This record gives sequence, C-alpha cells and structure tokens, in this order.
Amino acid sequence: MSKVTIQAAREPRSSRILGIGGYRPSRVVTNAEIIEHIDSSDEWIRTRSGIESRRWASDEETVVSMSLAAAQKALADAGVQPEQVDCVIVSTVTHLYQTPSAAAEIAHKLGTNKAAAFDISAACAGFCYGLSLASDMVRAGTAGHVVVIGVERLSDLTDKTDRSTAFLFADGAGAAVVGPAAGPAEAGIGPVVWGSDGEHLDLIKQREDWRDALRNEIGPTMPHLVMQGNPVFRWASYEMAKVAQEALTAAGVTVDDLDVFVPHQANMRITDAMARTLKLPERVAIARDIATQGNTSAASIPLAIERMLETGEAQSGDLALIIGFGAGLVYAGQVIRIP
Ligand code: ACO
Repeated sequence: MSKVTIQAAREPRSSRILGIGGYRPSRVVTNAEIIEHIDSSDEWIRTRSGIESRRWASDEETVVSMSLAAAQKALADAGVQPEQVDCVIVSTVTHLYQTPSAAAEIAHKLGTNKAAAFDISAACAGFCYGLSLASDMVRAGTAGHVVVIGVERLSDLTDKTDRSTAFLFADGAGAAVVGPAAGPAEAGIGPVVWGSDGEHLDLIKQREDWRDALRNEIGPTMPHLVMQGNPVFRWASYEMAKVAQEALTAAGVTVDDLDVFVPHQANMRITDAMARTLKLPERVAIARDIATQGNTSAASIPLAIERMLETGEAQSGDLALIIGFGAGLVYAGQVIRIP
C-alpha cells in the first residue's frame, strides 16, 4: 500500500461575496391581467401575498440570456474578469434542457477559461445551496472565483388558470460572485444551516413527469407546478424562523447585530411572520421585492439584495441573514456580508 500523502489543494482560507447582479424581464404583469384567467381579485392577491405586479419573460428572455445578463453585472460589480472564474453554478428548476447544463453554456458565453460548470435543483433554496457550495470551494481552494446564479422562468411551468399558483410565480435571474476574503476577519459567508424534508414532496411539485406530460390524453402539455399553498405557508412561517435562528447561532451573531433580512420572496405574510418570530429590531431592513417581482424561486434572494442596494436600504458591508425554502421540501440559510 502506498504511504504517500495526497497534497491538499491549498491552505484553507476565508470566502466572501464580491459582487451581486440581477436581471428583471421587461414585461410587467399586473394583477388585473392575472385575474382575467382566475376567480380572484387585485385586493385578495395584494392582501394574501403582498404582490402588486410581477415580471414574465418574453421568448427572447431565456434561462441562459437572463443568467448571462445577471452574471455580467455581478462580475462588473465584483471587478472580476470572466477569465478569473473557475466555476459556474446555476440553480434552476426551469431550464427546459435536461442536458447539457445551463451552466456550461453560460460559462462559455461569459468568456470563462473553461470553468467548471453545473446546474443544481434546490427550488427556492437554490441560491443559498449554491452559495454554500461556492463558499466551501473557495475556502478549500478548489476554486478561486465562483459565479452562483439563481434563475427561473416559472411562467413556463405555471398553469395560468390555477388560482393557487397563477398570481404567485414569476421570472428573473440573480447572480453573485464568490471569492477569497483577505483573512478570517474579512470572512463574508457564515456556515450554512440546510436540510430537506422529502416526506412532504407533494406540497409543491411538477404535476407529472415529462413523459406523462407528452402522453397526456388532451395532447402534449407543459408539466405545470402544483402547490398546496396553506401547508407550505404554515411550514415556512414557523419552521423556517427556527432555521434562520440556527443560522445566526452558527455564525456567532444575534438579531441585534443584523442590518438586513432577506428571506426568499415567497409571500409578504411569510416574511412578516418570520420577522416577528425572530424578534428583528425595527432598524433591520427587510427585503420586500416580492411586491413588484413576484416569487422568482432561486432568483429571489440575489434580486432582492440588488434592489436593496439600489434603493439604499442596504449598504455594502452590512450584515445580512438570508434564507431560502421551497419544493422538496428543502431549505438553507446563512449570514452574509453584503458586497
Ligand atoms: N383568489 C381568491 N381567493 C382564493 C385564491 C385566489 N387566487 N386562492 C385561494 N383562495 C381562497 C380559498 O378558496 C379559500 O377560501 P375559503 O376560505 O372560502 O375556503 C381562501 O382563499 C384561503 O385559501 P388559502 O389557500 O388558505 O390561502 P392562503 O392564505 O394560504 O394564501 C397562498 C394562499 C398565497 C398561496 C399562500 O398559501 C402561500 O403563499 N403559500 C406559500 C407559497 C410558498 O412559499 N411556496 C414555496 C416556494 S415556491 C417554489 O418552491 C417554486
């Protein structure tokens, strides 16, 4: 048996987010347009979800094109060149090709030097999952800079006549560039607290697999997403606040240290319930991007951070708690420094 020591990639180091970027499709879809197809009202949608309007992508605004635009903005924000990127991670459940990955195409179109590239499927927790992987890669030395993208075209998989989902889901892309921090004191990504609960996979799911959708008796249809909204609502409002608290503890901080709270933009009432349970101080800025963006699943957290930076609600260097949760069920949360 050989006794040689396998050389580690490099000494462990710290990681942080260096830049953020987003892409919002140009078409604004109002509640008035939504209720043309479902028995609902503008008032019900606003009070039950907090959504006033959302964005749906045009045919030209694809998973790849939206990702590319968001990633280019994030790289410019980070001051990182595409050739410096070692890995591209794309979190999506709406890339319509099972293979090849969206990430490989995006890495090529970004102009990276043959960066490693792969897609992950973690629904609305996808950005936090990807961020955790990227952070660990940078810390272990397997990558210098990683682009993490959350992107969805949920409008493709939404049944516009289903009143439990039609008003909720939307499209967009958000990206972050993760790279090394100068030292442990500059670390900008805390330990992830994550998990899954596959016992409840029926609560949010693709109604049928692609083969059944093609063999449908009414002819080929898109396999729409179906959701039992109320159990998901209760799970998210109560269980996810506990996960958020664990993420704070894992990072060695308390709510009093926080500047910003960015939960997945699933429903304004879930955000409010979590903020109450966590007892967030009033001065903590809370992401409310859902009002005009809808629920964009994996894209919602980076899009909300970008918006808060634009409006001045968040500043570079702020301490933020982020948490994603969704179909699986899956969840992930961590404490970060806003780039
Ligand atoms: N318009 C008008 N009335 C409606 C609508 C609608 N679109 N939908 C339901 N109702 C009615 C119901 O029939 C019910 O009426 P009743 O009281 O007469 O029986 C009443 O409104 C309440 O229905 P609920 O389903 O209990 O409504 P709820 O308050 O739970 O809100 C919502 C529904 C907004 C969907 C909420 O449950 C929710 O946001 N759930 C979580 C979504 C989420 O976080 N998903 C995870 C991420 S998504 C992903 O992973 C891709």
